[in-house]
Amino acid sequence: MIFDGLSEVGDDPILLVTKMYSACIDPNKVDLGVGVYKDANGDTVILDSVKKAEQHLVNSQKTKTYLSPSGNVEYNDCVQKLLLGDDHPVILQGRVTTIQAPGGTGGIRIGADFLKICKPDTKVWISDPTWPNHYGIMSSSGLQTEAYRYYDIKKGEFLYSEMMEDLNTAQAGDVIILHGCCHNASGADLTREQWNELTNFMSKRDLVPFLDIAYQGFSEGIIEDSYAIRLMSEKLPEVLIASSCSKNFAMYRDRVGAITLVSSTAELNKINASHMLKVVRSIYSMPPDHGAAVVAHILSDDALRNQWMREVDEMRSRVKEMRNLFVKKMAEKAPNSGFGYIAEQNGMFSFLTLSADQIQTLIKDYSIYFMANGRVNIAGLTEDNVDYVTDSIAALFNS
Ligand code: LMR
Repeated sequence: MIFDGLSEVGDDPILLVTKMYSACIDPNKVDLGVGVYKDANGDTVILDSVKKAEQHLVNSQKTKTYLSPSGNVEYNDCVQKLLLGDDHPVILQGRVTTIQAPGGTGGIRIGADFLKICKPDTKVWISDPTWPNHYGIMSSSGLQTEAYRYYDIKKGEFLYSEMMEDLNTAQAGDVIILHGCCHNASGADLTREQWNELTNFMSKRDLVPFLDIAYQGFSEGIIEDSYAIRLMSEKLPEVLIASSCSKNFAMYRDRVGAITLVSSTAELNKINASHMLKVVRSIYSMPPDHGAAVVAHILSDDALRNQWMREVDEMRSRVKEMRNLFVKKMAEKAPNSGFGYIAEQNGMFSFLTLSADQIQTLIKDYSIYFMANGRVNIAGLTEDNVDYVTDSIAALFNS
């Protein structure tokens, strides 16, 4: 026997929250856990643009024969342009390849396996805090990891100078995972000046960015949120970008993502892409088509694209409204609670500056489910539950 030597591993900390929430029978329960958008009714609905594109596919698709390890080429082209713009220098120079991947997670994994092939002892720097699966993926690919300071959870403060101090110790050829926008888990992003400074620093120090962009459109807008990826792709010779359509197309379970590779020359890019495709072939052969075909149709049809852009605007605005409402209500109900920083942050997530005991009280006594480190999904707040949530948090301060 060989299957008898293992002990059970714990749940992923994010998926655990969903599991606990689903098992809870309290009618007041609130889910502020996993990063999914919810509308004003608390539902994660299918976007109208997606429904229309799916209908179009049902009516027009004639075959489901194999594509290839790179997936849907029209999707790859559309996504690349959504990330970088139509005329980005790396596109004009033929130095970029986008490969469809099963979700942003799949894109990160392909990128990580590719790094292992390029340089087996690659060290990857990861922000503290981060999306916990960054560690899981990098270690599954056999890469070394090191944390850099990014955000003080207890104080609610972005640690830009500490981040730069830590990255100052990185060696040439090290890879830095950066959240392209809407940092998961803090919601705290670099300003444009800071991105410029970081890019110059990385250029001088020969550091390679691995940009993870899963929330494009949730901070300022689709184009505005691509500032960092466009800048780094222009100024640095080698870049990896893992992107996701889970959130901005609300296609979570369809697993639609990509890995985009920028190499120093067109010739090297062709060689590098061939290695990525070999990785794909050996893991899952080729990605599932449906979600990518939907995205490709939306992005290449003017009317559907405009409708989708409006739907993204609506999602972004609602999350921002919930940030402001939460902060306003907390200021009224517990004036010294100090949650004002939440209104300034981006995307779905922020940390609540609460103690471990306070967090457990909210989970256990009030059935408000979020990560044990304090990360909340602001998109889980609605006009209907915000009073329950803010009253419960205020009770911790006023008792
Ligand atoms: C999250 O951070 O909650 C999302 O990215 C979902 C996930 O897969 O963890």
